[in-house]
Amino acid sequence: MKVLLVNGSAITQGNTFVALSEIAKTLEAEEIETEIVEIGKRPVRGCIACGSCKEKGNGRCVFDDDICNRISEKVEAADAFVFGSPVYFGQPNGALLAVLQRLLYSNGAAFEFKPVANVAICRRGGATAAFQTMNMAFQMMNMPIATSQYWNIAYGRLQGETLQDLEGMQTMRQLARNMAWMLKKLHADGVADKPATEAAQPMHFIR
Ligand SMILES: Cc1cc2nc3c(=O)[nH]c(=O)nc-3n(C[C@H](O)[C@H](O)[C@H](O)COP(=O)(O)O)c2cc1C
Repeated sequence: MKVLLVNGSAITQGNTFVALSEIAKTLEAEEIETEIVEIGKRPVRGCIACGSCKEKGNGRCVFDDDICNRISEKVEAADAFVFGSPVYFGQPNGALLAVLQRLLYSNGAAFEFKPVANVAICRRGGATAAFQTMNMAFQMMNMPIATSQYWNIAYGRLQGETLQDLEGMQTMRQLARNMAWMLKKLHADGVADKPATEAAQPMHFIR
């Protein structure tokens, strides 16, 4: 089994990376393969609601000139996901949200029923709001959300400072163990069980 971890920070070896690395190391100890992908420093587009992905149904965003589709190509083969974000103004960073929204809109079926978690790293405040914001997306994608002993947040400002947040690092390790447990139970018979679903019944309220 494989967990794909997405680092939203442009600081590739920063505090979000430290937290994701702790999760990855703990998952590997549970014999679960991991890959950390970086959104990086290059520009990313936001969703423009063009609907091309829905028309084509190919699981990819029409904009192929940034990291979004490169991540999307890895989604089908992944069994679970962790999204990591630095806290910017009490929110997830913009690049992460832009990519996450396009991934879920263009390739939602490849995410459904796969465990997910997010982690938020901050200097001082706003991490729980950022954490909740990211969970809003997963809660409407039929994704089981892995939790930990506390909200998945950790503190640190300068590169690597998060290592000093011992409770935060412990929260990351417990999250990884809980996700591994969830994955192993879900795949106990070698095939991921999925519940039945109904045909979509969209109601837009203004007709
Ligand atoms: C634009 C910007 C906004 C930020 N806003 C907040 C904030 O609202 N609350 C906070 O505690 N830290 C804030 N920070 C600090 C970062 O969240 C913190 O340094 C974090 O560890 C960065 O993670 P990284 O090293 O993975 O990029 C902000 C940093 C930047 C660059």
